[in-house]
Amino acid sequence: MIRLRVHPDRAAAVTAVAADIAGLIRDRARAGRRAVLGLATGSTPIPLYAELVRLHREEGLSFRHVTTFNLDEYSGLGPGHDQSYRWFMQRQLFDHVDIPPAETHVPDGLAPDPAAASAAYERAILAAGGIDLQVLGIGRTGHIGFNEPPAGPATRTRQVHLDELTRRDNAAFFGDIAKVPRHAVTMGVGTILDCRRVVLLAWGEGKADIVRRAAEDTPSDDCPASWLQRHPACDFVLDPAAAAKLSPR
Ligand code: GLP
Repeated sequence: MIRLRVHPDRAAAVTAVAADIAGLIRDRARAGRRAVLGLATGSTPIPLYAELVRLHREEGLSFRHVTTFNLDEYSGLGPGHDQSYRWFMQRQLFDHVDIPPAETHVPDGLAPDPAAASAAYERAILAAGGIDLQVLGIGRTGHIGFNEPPAGPATRTRQVHLDELTRRDNAAFFGDIAKVPRHAVTMGVGTILDCRRVVLLAWGEGKADIVRRAAEDTPSDDCPASWLQRHPACDFVLDPAAAAKLSPR
């Protein structure tokens, strides 16, 4: 079931989600357990990571007992490439908090055997006890992670082909569409549905159509995010523009 949480603006939305994550981290630490976070890239979660860094610096939020698993990575890009998602996570979050480096996981875009590396990634998530809270953005194709349509609940971590719309949407970051990889490794829709909680963030009018399809259309592989309707604890955290096309409730 999707709970819709529409905030007055994205700053208010981000503050609420960061407080939620901080509560989870502190609860787990008090119980002597690690918090396992699933993390996303893209422009949407950047202010969330900035707020988590602020909570670390100004309010003593420690990440020493946090383990993270990122959703996806471009195939062919190593951690030193400035468009790799490993690089993004280091710059946006990991370099600024006290998380043990070995507790941060991003799929390996250079793995010589992507199928074996993907299976190992699934095993690592299980060995960590599963993901407590997965942060998601949404692509205009309805993708979550890099699960382009068609993709359904049976999909697990694997190498995928990127949709041309997704490549165009990301071309600005690479400077030239020819430089945007054609493949990526991503957690599957099924991997995401196994997370104990899911929080999907979306801002701006450009996301309004796909947010409506994901939240309201009958779940289908044509809009992978629509399978989140089958998750028992999924929040869509939106600003008014991203929520503008939802039916009145
Ligand atoms: C990429 C990522 C997704 C992300 C999407 C949306 O394709 N793989 O995880 O949700 O972009 O990006 P943005 O947040 O910049 O709109």
